[in-house]
Amino acid sequence: MKKRRTEQYRATQTNQAYLYSNRPFKWFLDLIRPVRGRFLFAQLLDLVFVATSVIPATITGLLVDDVLTDRKLELLPRYLLLLVLIPLARSCIAVVFRYQFESRSQNTVMRIRESLYRHLQNLDASFYGRSRIGDIMSKMTGDVDMIRHFIAYTAFATLESVILFIFGSLYIFTVSWKLALVALLISPAIFILTYRLGRTVRPIWSEIREAFSRLNSVVQQNIAGNRVVRAFARADYEEEKFEKQNVSYRDANMRHNKAAVRFLPALDGLANLLTMPVILVGGILVIRGQLTIGGLVTFNGLLFVLTQPMRMAGNLMNEIQRYAASAAKVVDLFIERPRILQPQDQADKATADDEPFEQKRKASIRGKVEFRDVTFTYGERKGHALQPCLKNINLVAEPGQTIGVVGLTGSGKTSLINLIPRLYDTTFGAILIDDIDVRDYNLQELRRNIGMVMQDVFLFSDTIEGNIAYGVPDIEQEAVLSAARTAAADSFIRKMIDGYDTIIGERGVGLSGGQRQRIALARALVIRPRILILDDTTSAVDMETEHEIQQALARDLTDSTVFIIAHRISSVRNADQIIVLDEGSIVERGTHEELLALRGIYFDVFATQAGLTAEETAALSLEGGAANGTQPL
Ligand SMILES: Nc1ncnc2c1ncn2[C@@H]1O[C@H](COP(=O)(O)OP(=O)(O)OP(=O)(O)O)[C@@H](O)[C@H]1O
Ligand SMILES: [Mg+2]
Repeated sequence: MKKRRTEQYRATQTNQAYLYSNRPFKWFLDLIRPVRGRFLFAQLLDLVFVATSVIPATITGLLVDDVLTDRKLELLPRYLLLLVLIPLARSCIAVVFRYQFESRSQNTVMRIRESLYRHLQNLDASFYGRSRIGDIMSKMTGDVDMIRHFIAYTAFATLESVILFIFGSLYIFTVSWKLALVALLISPAIFILTYRLGRTVRPIWSEIREAFSRLNSVVQQNIAGNRVVRAFARADYEEEKFEKQNVSYRDANMRHNKAAVRFLPALDGLANLLTMPVILVGGILVIRGQLTIGGLVTFNGLLFVLTQPMRMAGNLMNEIQRYAASAAKVVDLFIERPRILQPQDQADKATADDEPFEQKRKASIRGKVEFRDVTFTYGERKGHALQPCLKNINLVAEPGQTIGVVGLTGSGKTSLINLIPRLYDTTFGAILIDDIDVRDYNLQELRRNIGMVMQDVFLFSDTIEGNIAYGVPDIEQEAVLSAARTAAADSFIRKMIDGYDTIIGERGVGLSGGQRQRIALARALVIRPRILILDDTTSAVDMETEHEIQQALARDLTDSTVFIIAHRISSVRNADQIIVLDEGSIVERGTHEELLALRGIYFDVFATQAGLTAEETAALSLEGGAANGTQPL
């Protein structure tokens, strides 16, 4: 428990921690490792590009001294040719290495997206339970793109500036060391300013990314919940909510701009100030004969080796902060760990006397399901453990049996059945299938044997056939039809314009709640599950159709163990065993007749649903209580 809390703590801390650490940059090195050869090549070209940048100014200086001062006119064509050819060659080099950086960055980012997507597939219900979709989406798109920008541009531009500055500073000493000293004396002031800018802007970038995530979340929720918004006529409220996030996103951007606007002109101004003392001191040196005019021209032309990195510094600092903020967010996703682990990953669970997992795997599951002393809590919130929503559950379902689960809303029915395919793991106790702990099964193998129809049905925007065949993509069409028939979906599907090829959610094709439930049921049946779980699956289906489905299920799934969660007694009355949940505990259990005889919660619900009057119920109660000896649990 303690360990988990530290992990959570770490997860919330990482964003800040990453910003102020060098880990996003270590991560960057890891990212480019597979393509470092190409990067090195591109960087070398970049180096050539930077080194040759001093040539034009040097030639111009030579031109002034040799052609204008010394009148060696025959040299003019040669200098002019060089002045044309060298920049041309440099441009060609630039095209090659820029293309390399760009394409490497696209490939690298594609790999990030790929592994991020794969990672998302592995995360489990508890992660999705506490994450906002908009947040994940903005990490997958905006933040990942920021990383691409860093790889394609910022990283090499930074290196380029540093090299230009160092190489250029050394080079100007060869032209005139006195002038070089003057120019370099002004530089520290500029770097201090740049550093200060960086410190101001740094926290703002992460603020901007956060604001963007929140904005995305509002939009995503508004789109997903648009029917609720309309039904409750809350468009104004939603607009207000959006407005708030929109304003906060703008404000974060403005704060950043303010900081940038304050510093960038100063940087530019300072950089230009370099020219004045250089011309002044240079003029004196020329008058004294210590420097040629050409030398001064060259030096002035080379000032960009100092001013350009200085100008760039502020901007690059900015870009680096943006990268660090985005990388921190993406890394946050990457360090999310699934809590539901494959048996081979649960290293600490394995003890010496454990059988090898391979031996525990069975060719096929028979379908015995046992809850052994199960207590379950949905994690913790703000450091406090939540109340357990399942307490000491003991239950054995023999293969082929049907178990009915009833109970008030919120009593823990969904939580109970979510534990079987390990959407969550028990907090205490164990679930056993064929007497083997579910945690010892290969996850995919376990889930492939369990057909589940969830309470809130989700269908993909695909054809009806595609939806039904989701679990077994290469299934024969006959099997799809047969599953649809069992789920009493065949007849309404055939009536649709494109039948089984109808695409759900497109061109106005909508489905009723009961139709969606039946397609979801067919989807669960297609995998021919040994264990079938129906969570309120026929709640939106009329009683007659429900009866039809039940008969078909009894006929087709004789060997499967079936869990039926329902609010209608009619849905569970034929079950071999019915349990009544109340606040997470089993309070009554037995067959329909046994439970009626108990005259407890089940009986009350039955009486209400059967429309018995108070007198009739009371009369039945008296009669049953005396005649039946079944004890409540
Ligand atoms: N993801 C979750 N995180 C935290 N608590 C949850 C979560 N899901 C459910 N709960 C809580 O667990 C309890 C049981 O919920 P559960 O969904 O199992 O009820 P249920 O019996 O299926 O209700 P219903 O009949 O309405 O479907 C409730 O108190 C609920 O608030
Ligand atoms: Mg439920």
